[in-house]
Amino acid sequence: MEAVAEAVVESTSAPAFTPITIGGRDRYAKTVEVSKRIRWDIDRDVIRGRAFDFGKKFLPDGLSLVNQLDFVTPAERRFLSQIQGRTYANVFGLVERFIGAKVLEISKEHWLGDQVALEALVRFTDEELKHQEMFRRLERMAAEGMPAGYEFKPQPNDVAAAVLSKSTWAVLGLTLDIELFTQAHYRASIDPDAELSALWKDVFLFHWKEESQHAILDELEWKREDARLTAAQRDQAVTDLIELVAAVDGIVQAQAAADADYFLLQAGRTFAITEQQALRATVLKAYRWQFIFSGVQDQRFLEVLGSMITAEQGARIHAALASIGPVAAH
Ligand SMILES: [Fe+2]
Ligand SMILES: [Fe+2]
Repeated sequence: MEAVAEAVVESTSAPAFTPITIGGRDRYAKTVEVSKRIRWDIDRDVIRGRAFDFGKKFLPDGLSLVNQLDFVTPAERRFLSQIQGRTYANVFGLVERFIGAKVLEISKEHWLGDQVALEALVRFTDEELKHQEMFRRLERMAAEGMPAGYEFKPQPNDVAAAVLSKSTWAVLGLTLDIELFTQAHYRASIDPDAELSALWKDVFLFHWKEESQHAILDELEWKREDARLTAAQRDQAVTDLIELVAAVDGIVQAQAAADADYFLLQAGRTFAITEQQALRATVLKAYRWQFIFSGVQDQRFLEVLGSMITAEQGARIHAALASIGPVAAH
């Protein structure tokens, strides 16, 4: 009874924030404020009754690397950029399944604590559910305007089950990586390209606005999780993160092959064997750049990761990345 009484007294006095969230309290509050201010609606703000303009590119050259294929005509480059842009949207719908589930799970740490942090994570989860709905809508719209035969291989629930079997530290690390590269892609490649489908571009403008808050929360939660781990647990978590990156590469390889097959089947002409090989290699290189290498080069990601791990663990991660391929795509 005494313990209960003490808890009640504590809960009615000054807010009982745990020491770990004190440093991030203002940042949680800021994400809530921005999330409320920029909140958008799929139909009213993003789609606005529009369809994709199939006379325009979807994914910009800086991400699709289609400009590296000199034997492909401008119309074929545009088609390949649309295939890649369709996959790009589907990949976000895929990863948001496990991101939403993990954020909902870790929100438990705040249920009876910092209510601002809890609100921030609830809004984060709500936004990821909305994003998944948006990407499902876009897939249906893309299917209406493109030839039959496209297939997005990975299943969101299968991937989520595999990812969520790994340690929370590793899942949060992968999540921060994804949510930082989402922003980097928009700023560096999508925003400056004036030749993209207006709807496709707007999707990633609005997505970027909400992802900016998510990356801040990922960082706060990843550091909070990191502070709880022993050295041995962290070492295992680094192994988990390496295994997650390998799993991402498995998905990327399968989808790159499927998308190259679809392009070659629908392009309406034959390509020499060497051209087919070059096309397959370029699509795989582009997907590895988009979903693996561009993220791990992000300065913020490197700073946060570097503050948590030993030099030996950093070397293990670097060796794992090097085994996938050359880190730079350009
Ligand atoms: Fe999202
Ligand atoms: Fe997100």
